[in-house]
Amino acid sequence: MDHPILTITHGVQFSAAHRMNNSRLSPERNLEIFGPCNRIHGHNYRVEASLRGPLDPETGMVANLVDLMRVMKEEIFEQLDHQLLDEIPWLKDTVISAETLAIAIWKKLANRQDELGAALDLVRVYETEADSAEYRGPASNDF
Ligand code: NI
Repeated sequence: MDHPILTITHGVQFSAAHRMNNSRLSPERNLEIFGPCNRIHGHNYRVEASLRGPLDPETGMVANLVDLMRVMKEEIFEQLDHQLLDEIPWLKDTVISAETLAIAIWKKLANRQDELGAALDLVRVYETEADSAEYRGPASNDF
């Protein structure tokens, strides 16, 4: 019996405010780089996390998505929904973009890898329906 490898995904949505701002730069330079995104504004974010592993022939599953659902609710929704992201302690000192959010959320989920049942493979952050960033963790992203 072979064990095909699959990727499974859970998504959560939350609404939050942020501004694009690099505190090491002058207000003028921030405005030049980020334009209107330098002002506080909101997004309806969607975050998807994927787990990858072999199919368990006994359960017909790669992992029980209930576990990923619980971890994502605790680490993402409960911490970020209706917040000003710039004030979240674990996002402090970063320019809050879809890219940096994907990295920060990857770290939060990776810290709970033991609970996930299969290897964390991908975090994708949609800032709008059209725009997203994805991160596959440090191992596959080191240049
Ligand atoms: Ni924005």
